[in-house]
Amino acid sequence: MHLLALSGSLRARSSNGAVLRSALDLFDGPTATADIGALPHFNPDLDGEDATPPPAVAALRTAVATADALLIVSPEYAHGVPGVLKNALDWLVSSGECVHKPVAVITASPFPTGGDHANAQLRETLRMMTADVITAACREIPAIGPRIDPATERVTDEPTLADLRTALTHLAAATTPAPTP
Ligand SMILES: Cc1cc2nc3c(=O)[nH]c(=O)nc-3n(C[C@H](O)[C@H](O)[C@H](O)COP(=O)(O)O)c2cc1C
Repeated sequence: MHLLALSGSLRARSSNGAVLRSALDLFDGPTATADIGALPHFNPDLDGEDATPPPAVAALRTAVATADALLIVSPEYAHGVPGVLKNALDWLVSSGECVHKPVAVITASPFPTGGDHANAQLRETLRMMTADVITAACREIPAIGPRIDPATERVTDEPTLADLRTALTHLAAATTPAPTP
């Protein structure tokens, strides 16, 4: 199973980036990370059937199409989804690469809520896109700070790592390999 990860944080020392890297470290199989920070702002004029998508959009669509499952790890901003991540998902609505794609949504926050608003909003958007949101693989991680070693920028808290492993197991169990393009 080939896993593609997307981070909703562009911050160099992102805690969600640390969660993402830790999950990929735990994952038994090929992985890749999409660079959604390079995407242009979504514009329906560039998204029609006759339009040639911008190169970064085409690259994202190919990466999603060839992945067997998606792992989205994101912070919450102002009780919502970071604009950069919503922008990436908007580019994938009409092109259809997310249809029936198994997806795990993980949000991490320094606060006790674990990014629950953003988590719920992401799941709703993905369901509207007909992605296969694997509820058992989704997580809201509260109080993320002390769970991470700033030196390695990885999760070091053992219960959190065990829970990430469980989440990935659920995602893998719900996934069948994508057809070769
Ligand atoms: C503009 C802004 C808005 C934020 N709003 C929320 C919020 O609504 N809920 C929350 O849990 N954290 C919020 N935070 C705190 C982020 O969770 C925190 O900065 C976190 O470290 C960001 O994730 P990252 O470390 O992966 O970049 C906000 C941070 C910023 C900069």
